[in-house]
Parts: sequence; structure tokens; C-alpha cells
Amino acid sequence: MKHVFSTLLLAILILPRICDGQDRLATVDLKNNYWYKNSIIYNLEVGVFKDSDGDGRGDFQGLIQKLDYLSSLGVDAIWLAPFQPTPGKDDGYDVADYYTIDEKLGTGGDFAEFIYQTEKRGIRVIMDLVINHTSDEHPWFKNARGSKNSKYRDWYIWSEKLPKNHDEGMVFPGFQSGVWKLDSLSGEYYYHRFYDFQPDLNFTNPAVVQECQRIIGFWLNQGISGFRLDAVPFIIEIPKTGTEKPKLDYKFLTDIRQFARSRKADAAILGEANVTPEENENYFGGNGDGIQMMFNFFANQHLFYALATGKLDPFKKAIRETQRIPEASQWAHFLRNHDEIDLGRLTDKQRQEVYDKFGPDTSMQIYERGIRRRLATMMGNNRKHMELAYSLLFSLPGTPVIRYGDELGMGDDLRLRERISVRTPMQWDDSKNAGFTTADTAFRPVIDFGEHSYKKVNVAQQRRDSTSLLSWTTDLIRLRKSCPEIGLGNYKLIEAGSPFIFGIQYELAGETLVILHNFSDKPQRSEFTMNGNALLMDLINKNDQKPNAGKHTVNMPGYGYKWFRVVKD
Ligand code: GLC
Repeated sequence: MKHVFSTLLLAILILPRICDGQDRLATVDLKNNYWYKNSIIYNLEVGVFKDSDGDGRGDFQGLIQKLDYLSSLGVDAIWLAPFQPTPGKDDGYDVADYYTIDEKLGTGGDFAEFIYQTEKRGIRVIMDLVINHTSDEHPWFKNARGSKNSKYRDWYIWSEKLPKNHDEGMVFPGFQSGVWKLDSLSGEYYYHRFYDFQPDLNFTNPAVVQECQRIIGFWLNQGISGFRLDAVPFIIEIPKTGTEKPKLDYKFLTDIRQFARSRKADAAILGEANVTPEENENYFGGNGDGIQMMFNFFANQHLFYALATGKLDPFKKAIRETQRIPEASQWAHFLRNHDEIDLGRLTDKQRQEVYDKFGPDTSMQIYERGIRRRLATMMGNNRKHMELAYSLLFSLPGTPVIRYGDELGMGDDLRLRERISVRTPMQWDDSKNAGFTTADTAFRPVIDFGEHSYKKVNVAQQRRDSTSLLSWTTDLIRLRKSCPEIGLGNYKLIEAGSPFIFGIQYELAGETLVILHNFSDKPQRSEFTMNGNALLMDLINKNDQKPNAGKHTVNMPGYGYKWFRVVKD
């Protein structure tokens, strides 16, 4: 009898759960299956992160030592800058062999160990895939130059005569004089969108496309979860020697996505494509069958305009114009990356306003369109302004991508050439060379001057200080992770009662979030109404807001930010 009773009790307790589970399975939202829709991505370069063997340069063993640091920060995925053999003329974006590890950074064994250690911690790894061009020291190019009959000749793009448009379309104006260069060996000109030591591969040649798939398959097999696809619009352009605009072959994107997923079901491709909102659909694919993610460069430049001036309208417009994307697609939002901030899509006047605030000296500007500084220096190390920018980044519709060292407020070294200014070694502690290396000299200098010197800005010191930027960022990441609405939900911008306040509302599975940011350095009052008499639960401070006759009034300090969950009455 006792037995029957306990069986019955068990059935009563368990059955509804099973049914509930089945029910949920039947209606499960597939969006939850896409890891890249709601992850925190951390971008780093192995060579400047941590040196394990004292040769002055970071390496994979050093990175392994620091994985617990990344775990404790709350990182879900690491984006590795190029780590393959390279002459290093474009900091690794000039690849000389796609299938191995640069011996300066470690061995294949170190890489396997690194992947194992990331998997153990539940961290994914995505890597840069730089296939628009190779290094001119890649064996394919050396071979192609050697003879017009070479098997590799048609892997690159050649012209017998110097094409008319040879001095148009340079990616690095001021540092690059054209896009066609005479090859002294074969007497023909080759095409290079970027520097002249980066000859473009010819993607109209099926052998090149196949090789590219082999590279993707190879690295997926090594444990990679996806790729940051470098220079996408240039990969898919069909180069012309005339003056007309090149056509773009978007199908290539669908093909490589399909290929990647055929090898690894959840592999994702994150594209670097600074394009207009009208063009986005071609990259994501009409049904979301193109690349899964793209950096939202369009919103980024308008965001910098808003941060510099407090004028929000262009940024709001950019968020609205990039709102409609397929369900499986996702934006990656960022503040800084390893390149310049590209302000090329702002008007001249707007760009000048951003320069005036964030990069007034010409040494801070680059390529006639951008700024080569880190966030902390641009913001004059103003903690409130930096918090506003970061809080906003983590609350924008998409997946946030952060750059190593920005969690500490690292600075830049404008004495270093071009974009190397923002690629200095990670600052771990206040010992010699910032704890980055035990060598006397780091291969690239650590920042040892001014407000951002490693003596003042480093992990060890900030970890012990609960008020540091590092502690604050760690809390912010935890907060973001408790708000899946942002990566997965629907959203709308709300009129927040002040021209300086950016308000956004998210909905997911009956949960609602309201997030406000004040772009003015002066206090602002936000007023808005919500349906019903809902309470706004403050997710950062215990400062819940009750409505008055349905209307909410929120007093925002200068550069203040508020994250609320709506608690229905
Ligand atoms: C991308 C990279 C940049 C590199 C260029 C050429 O724009 O972000 O760092 O120099 O491609 O590969």
C-alpha cells in the first residue's frame, strides 16, 4: 500500500513536469539555439596578451594562463586576431600560410591545449579569416609571379596594362597610393585593395573558393566555433579594370555559411562589412541564409557622434534603420576594435564634431575618416562618460564585442604607427613590462607613461578594488547576462521625455525591460508612460520607480544610465 501510494505521489509530482517539458519543447524558441545571438565576445591578439616563455611576445601558453581571468569576467567567446605565419607587415592580416600557427605564438600542440582549456570553461573561440588577400610572401603568390603558366597564376588578379582606376578605392588613403602594382617578375599589374604587399585572391576562380572552404573546414576541425570574416565587401567584389562599380557576388556568403554548417552545425560567421542599411539584407540573406552576424558599423559611427555631441537623432535613426534583420541573424555591437573608428559615413560636419571632441590633434586621426585612439583616452578618462558608453554597448540590440584592455580603461600610444597605437600589450600588474613579459624588452612597448601607464591601470590593482572599472564591467556583464531580452527579444525605441535620453524597451516571453541612457553631462528628467500601472524594478540600484497615474518620472544624473525590469501589477 505504501508502495502504491509513493508511486502515485511520484506520478503526481513528475507527470506535470514531463508534460510541461513536452509542451515547452514543442514551442521552444529556436532563437535560443543560436549561441551567437546572446554572447559576450572578447577580442584579443595572442601576441600582446601574455608571454609565457619570456621572449617578449605573447603566446598561446600565456593565453591559457589567463583563461580564468576571461571566465571571471564573464566572456562567452574569444575572437582571436590572426595567429598564422606572417611577415607581420599588417600585424598578421597578411597571412603566409593558412594551415599552421605562427611559431612565434606557439605550436599546433599549444593550440590544441588552448582549445581544450576553453571548452573546459565553456568558452567558444572564433578566429579571423583573412582571405580577401594573402601576403605577397605566401607560396601561392610567389608561385603565381614566377610564371604566367603557374597553377596559381589565376588565383590572383592581373592586368597587362595599368588600369585607368588604379588610384581609386584605396582602403588606406595616405598610406597606399593605388590598388594596382607592377610585379617586377612577371611584368603585369596585380590588384590589391589593401596594402601593396596584400595581393587580392581571385574569388571568381572556383579553385580559390574550394581552398577557402578547405581552410574553414580545417579550423572547424581544430575546435573553432566560427570566423570573423575580414573585409567581406572586397572578397565578394568582382574586380573590373574599367571605371564602373564592381558587382558583388553575395551567393559566396550563402555558400560558405552552408559549407561551415555542414562541418559544424553551430558554426557562425561574423562579417566585417561597413555597409549602408539598404545593403545589409544582401549580407544577412533575405531569409537569413547569408552570414549570421555583422558588425553594426553604421550604428557605431552615429553612436560616436551621439557620445561626442549629445545629439541623438542620427543614432536613433541608425538603430531604427538597422532593426529589420532575419530571425537567425544578429548584429555585433562594439565601441572600439583593433582598427581606427571609421567615421566615413558621417557628414563632413558631423565627423569634424567627433574629431573636435575625441581626436582634435591630427596625430589622432587617420585615413581621412577615423580616429586611432582607445575609448578611455578619447573620453579624457572620464569615468562617467565611459560607463555611459559601456552600459549602452551592453544594452544595444545584438551581441556585444569588447576589446582586451577596455575593461580596465587602457590607453593608446600614438607614437606607434597607424593602428598599432591601440594594440599595446595587456596590462596585468605594476611589475616591469606590466606583467606581460619577463623579458627586458617587450616586442611592442607597454604603455608606461601618463594616466594610462601600467603602473596606474592594471588588472591586479583593479581586481582588488570593488569600485574599479574592471569590477564595474564585471558586474555589467553579469547584469547583461541576466537580461536575455536584449539578445533575443523584440525591441522599440521609446520617447523618453528629453532629447538627450536614449530609451529602449525589450520584450521576450512576457518579460519587459526598459533601459535609459542620458547622453548629456547635465541631469535630465525622463518622463514616459507605460501600459497599466507597472512598477519599474531598478536592476542596478535599489531605486524602483512607481508610476503616477500611469506616468513614470525618472531623474537621471549627467551621463546616467538605468536598467529597469517591468513588474506588472
Ligand atoms: C580589415 C582588418 C584590418 C586589416 C585589413 C586588411 O579591415 O580589420 O586590420 O588591416 O582588413 O586585412
